[in-house]
Amino acid sequence: MKNTIYLGFITLSLLMTVSCENNALEEEIPEGFVCTTDVSYTNDIDPLLTQKCAPCHIGGGQFPDLTTYASVSQNAELIKTVTQNGTMPKNGFLTQDQIDLIACWVDNGALNN
Ligand code: HEC
Repeated sequence: MKNTIYLGFITLSLLMTVSCENNALEEEIPEGFVCTTDVSYTNDIDPLLTQKCAPCHIGGGQFPDLTTYASVSQNAELIKTVTQNGTMPKNGFLTQDQIDLIACWVDNGALNN
């Protein structure tokens, strides 16, 4: 009787370990970016452009200025195009998720959100 309980416990522990490992594996598979209206200029787009584009596109530097909402929104379609076709960032790169994030924000209407 004691052995049965012991075996049952071992089996249960093994099952739990296996299911945990399966979960870990699923999380490692990249899901890709999913476009929703949650994409925000303030939280997502501005920090990305500041990091990847502002070194060149700031104020009176290279057109267009990518540090203000006014200028970014006026050039939204152009920004979407040059990031999707890989022209920008010059001397750098964006991940596919970052490219999709920008396109999503533009498609959502380039809101000041
Ligand atoms: C290393 C400097 C540099 C970085 C970083 C950079 N750019 Fe540029 N960008 C340029 C230059 C220089 C031009 C002018 C065209 C050319 O020389 O290719 C330009 C032109 C552009 C244009 C205008 C294209 C046109 O047809 O008029 C857009 C839009 C643009 N960049 C967007 C971006 C975005 C978005 C990022 C960040 C993801 C970025 N750039 C990062 C240097 C840079």
